[in-house]
This record gives sequence, C-alpha cells and structure tokens, in this order.
Amino acid sequence: MKISVCGKGGSGKSALTSLLANQAVSRGLGVLVVDSDESNSGLFKMFGFEKPPVPLMELVGGKKKLKQKMSHPNVLAESHLSTKDIPSQYLIRRNGLMLISIGKILQALEGCACPMGVLNQEFLKKLRLGENEIAIIDMEAGVEHFGRGIDESIDRVLLVVEPSFESLTMAEKIKELASGMNKSVSAVLNKVGSEKIAKKLEGKLKTKDIEVIGIVPNDPMVFEACLEGRTLGEGEAFHAAGKVLDALL
Ligand SMILES: Nc1ncnc2c1ncn2[C@@H]1O[C@H](COP(=O)(O)OP(=O)(O)OP(=O)(O)O)[C@@H](O)[C@H]1O
Ligand SMILES: [Mg+2]
Repeated sequence: MKISVCGKGGSGKSALTSLLANQAVSRGLGVLVVDSDESNSGLFKMFGFEKPPVPLMELVGGKKKLKQKMSHPNVLAESHLSTKDIPSQYLIRRNGLMLISIGKILQALEGCACPMGVLNQEFLKKLRLGENEIAIIDMEAGVEHFGRGIDESIDRVLLVVEPSFESLTMAEKIKELASGMNKSVSAVLNKVGSEKIAKKLEGKLKTKDIEVIGIVPNDPMVFEACLEGRTLGEGEAFHAAGKVLDALL
C-alpha cells in the first residue's frame, strides 16, 4: 500500500508520517518513507538518522539533466523498482525503516521544482512494494502535488487536519481534487486539544463527506522532539497513530 500524507503547511504531515512509520515498523512491516517535500530538509532527524539520504534526483543526473529529459518521462530506466534495487546512499535504513528523498531546492534562482515532481511521479509509479511493505509519502504542503499528478499511483490519501479554518478549507479542496482522481481520502485530526474540538472538526468534515479515521492529540512530546530535531517517542500521539494504522490496514 502506498499512502500519501497531505494537508496544509504545518498541520503535522511529517509528524504523522513519522508516527505512522514507527507504528508500522513496530508491527514488523517494512516501511519506506518517501520525503517528497522540496523545501523542508529535516525529516531524517525525526527517524534518528545522522544525515539525510542522497536525493534520488542525483541518481538521475541532477535537476538540469532531468529537465532536458522531461519530454521522455522514463527517468528511471527500469519499468519496475523494488526497495532492493535502490543503492544504499539513496535509500538509507535504520531499525527496519527505509528513507528516500526525492530532491530539495538548494539555491536561489535554480528554477522551478517541476523536475522533482516528474521524478516523484515516475518513482512512485514504478515502485513495487513487497507483501510486507508499505510506503508512506510525506507530501509537500498544499495541493500542487495533485496538479502535478504525483498522487496518481497512491492507494490512500491521508489528510492531516489541524484545528484551523484554513486547514478545513484545504481539506475540502484536497477531497475534491483527490476524488477527481478516484482516490479514497481519509482524514486524521491532529493537535487536538479537547473532545469538544474533535467533535467540532469531525462535524465540519462530515458535511464535506470526509471520513475521520483518527484523532491525534496535542502531545508535548511531539512538540519538543520537533523543536529539538529528534525522534518523536512513544507518547499519546504514537498510540493514537496506532489506531490510524489499524484503520488504514
Ligand atoms: N500531535 C502534535 N502535538 C503537538 N505538536 C505537534 C503535533 N503535530 C505537529 N506538531 C507541531 O507542529 C509543527 C509542525 O508539524 P510538522 O512539521 O509535522 O508539520 P508539516 O505539515 O509537516 O509542516 P510542513 O508543511 O512545513 O512540512 C511541529 O514542529 C510541532 O511543533
Ligand atoms: Mg513536513
């Protein structure tokens, strides 16, 4: 199963990706986390790696080269790829978890991120997971990835919703775009401070025909880990993510 984690900027996509991945690893699944965020670069720290993987973009010769090849989107030569096919500097492993990064914007005036989108789309399309493997894709914030077709080969779209008007508005937009691609969308409420807030959010999402499959509380352990750039630990949020994983599997 390939699960994309999307939502408004700062809603908790990376935190949820990490919590879900840790839960899946603790159940003995092989978990491939795909860092699809072109701007933020600290996801590797949430998984306790000392340095990030070399971006997949380098494997195909860098952004400039890929841009030249973009009219022939067969950017990774093989038609199918498994996690074993990817060299170890691009796919790093730790405690049963695998992490890959598509590419990052590193310099001013380096041009748009379209090559990253093409590579991401191709990679996800070609990726064949083993029976006991899942892939969790930490998407860039917002809705552009739908426009770029990155979600084309995704099995489930997981929508992270925090208690804010903007987040609810984006949820509606994401539902609309994902439905247009025949993708099933489920929401997870994140940073929820009380039952009253959870009910309110759930009610609002219901009117937009969005099913809520989990509620992750506002967890100081997650907040502190994100502040210090380290693994998220096994507090309340981790346990809530376990229920989300149950619902997904
Ligand atoms: N369950 C939670 N409890 C407490 N704080 C949280 C929780 N989830 C996220 N946060 C806080 O929200 C911040 C943003 O979370 P995160 O980086 O996961 O969001 P994001 O959606 O990936 O952001 P971006 O759009 O920038 O990639 C974190 O730095 C952390 O402080
Ligand atoms: Mg993020």
